[in-house]
Amino acid sequence: MKIFLDTANLEELKQGAAWGIVDGVTTNPTLIAKEGVAIEEQIRRICAIVDGDISAEVVATEADAMIQEGRGLAKIHQNVVVKLPLTRDGIRACSTLSKDGIRTNVTLCFSAAQALLAAKAGAYIVSPFIGRLDDIGTPGIALIQEIVTIYRNYGYPTQILAASLRSPMHVIDSAKAGAHIGTMPFKVLDMLFQHPLTDRGLEQFLKDYAKAFQPAGVR
Ligand code: G3P
Repeated sequence: MKIFLDTANLEELKQGAAWGIVDGVTTNPTLIAKEGVAIEEQIRRICAIVDGDISAEVVATEADAMIQEGRGLAKIHQNVVVKLPLTRDGIRACSTLSKDGIRTNVTLCFSAAQALLAAKAGAYIVSPFIGRLDDIGTPGIALIQEIVTIYRNYGYPTQILAASLRSPMHVIDSAKAGAHIGTMPFKVLDMLFQHPLTDRGLEQFLKDYAKAFQPAGVR
């Protein structure tokens, strides 16, 4: 499964990129607003840090305006993927941009029916939101499983990006369900490293080594 960071924060992206395990980035208007820099400039900076698919979301809500905005975003860098909401206008914009060879990420997907529409419209990526479904008492991971089944049945090439991942369990369950990509906040990526037995084991290894090789008298 590819790992994407769901942030527009450059420091977090630099740290994740330095680990060599970040395959791409997703942003949304909320994440861009948090950084206080206009989207074109912030996406340009992100593209200079992470070499992979970088999702940049339109804020227009009408199809023609989305198409125009999407074309502009796609021009920023060859790695930009234009993110569109799963509305009637968004799907129309997705069909047009996909036919023009512009890669799209259809976001705010909360049902298998919506995911089917995204695939039909030629989306490069569809983004089902796991955490937000869990928030309303609907198991988000079941949606990933449904979409995986439907896309496999018909060989749709649209990649399934598990979004709104809030914990390592969400990441693991998405991978088990067959999501192509998991996008997560930096905090969740950092949590994937943690295991108390790793810390305890390393501490013991270093202690044993130091005891064996320290000069006599220092022991
Ligand atoms: O990838 C979508 C993400 O930004 C939403 O996450 O935690 O606000 O539901 P969350």
